[in-house]
Amino acid sequence: MKKKIFLSGVGGMLGEAFYKIFSKNYELKCTDIDVNEKWLEHLDFRDAEKYSLLVEKFNPDYLFHIGAYTDLEFCEKNQEETFITNTESVKTAVRISNDKNIPLLYISTAGIFDGKKNSYDEDDTPKPIGTYAISKYEAEKFVIQNSKKFLICRAGWMMGGGPKKDKKFIQKIIQQIKDGNKELFIVDDKFGTPTYTYDFAKNTETLIDTNNFGLFNMACEGNTSRLEVAEEILKILNLSDKIKVNKVKSDYFNKTFFAERPNSENLINKKLNQKGLNLMRPWKETLREYINTSYVNYL
Ligand SMILES: NC(=O)c1ccc[n+]([C@@H]2O[C@H](COP(=O)([O-])OP(=O)(O)OC[C@H]3O[C@@H](n4cnc5c(N)ncnc54)[C@H](OP(=O)(O)O)[C@@H]3O)[C@@H](O)[C@H]2O)c1
Repeated sequence: MKKKIFLSGVGGMLGEAFYKIFSKNYELKCTDIDVNEKWLEHLDFRDAEKYSLLVEKFNPDYLFHIGAYTDLEFCEKNQEETFITNTESVKTAVRISNDKNIPLLYISTAGIFDGKKNSYDEDDTPKPIGTYAISKYEAEKFVIQNSKKFLICRAGWMMGGGPKKDKKFIQKIIQQIKDGNKELFIVDDKFGTPTYTYDFAKNTETLIDTNNFGLFNMACEGNTSRLEVAEEILKILNLSDKIKVNKVKSDYFNKTFFAERPNSENLINKKLNQKGLNLMRPWKETLREYINTSYVNYL
């Protein structure tokens, strides 16, 4: 008989990959506040009573708490709501999974570091800057200190979901191209590790299947910059000669993207490597796959 997973907040970029990967070998109950797929049911995971009731009813072997507010500017402007959504609901998930004696998966982020070092492994101490990062790190700490059995996977710059769900950098760049822009303005002072949602979901499944728990960095291989990612998108789309890239500093965007971001969000998958379980592919390979599968008829 298939093992069962209850997933909350899986209507977004990462949720789509989790659904596709985990539905092959597990029985899933997928929920989100935004019911945008046939396979989703409604749950606002801030409603602790309903969260608990639905999990109890499904009686899963695992609880995956995936969703969060991920728009950094929204989080700065709505701090209380951010902590209720990104931190308090995770405390509820810890309580529910502890009561049921089932493992909890929580998704953390490279954004919890202050970006002063070049790169970060699991032994580095986070020092979050900004509301989103603080809310995510508070949740991470709570899980580590209070969960009986947990898996925390930290992602870098997420890529996935395609035009319908991708709210992040890749979609923003491709949208500008689709809108006919002949020049792009890209920051050259922000560094990180792209993380393809499918690789992330598959690697998470491998950890679960091999009974590995604890805290893991899980980003694609190779550190890079926003500038190089934008240039690579143009290369993949054969547009390098047609679209000009202007290098700018982050303060160029300080009205639109006013939330403070670390200069470096480079993650090193030290623990995955130590265990011989690092399945994360190089970011250029996954970016190509992502664009070729999700944006074929878009431009
Ligand atoms: N995106 C990144 O670059 C990134 C990087 C590292 C880690 N992460 C983490 O990865 C996880 C998944 O993020 P993602 O990239 O898939 O973001 P996403 O595309 O914004 O998806 C998050 C989903 O959670 C839902 N949600 C928000 N509040 C909820 C609530 N109260 N109850 C139920 N569902 C709720 C959202 O619905 P609405 O759209 O209606 O709000 C959305 O469908 C998050 O924990 C995030 O912090 C993301």
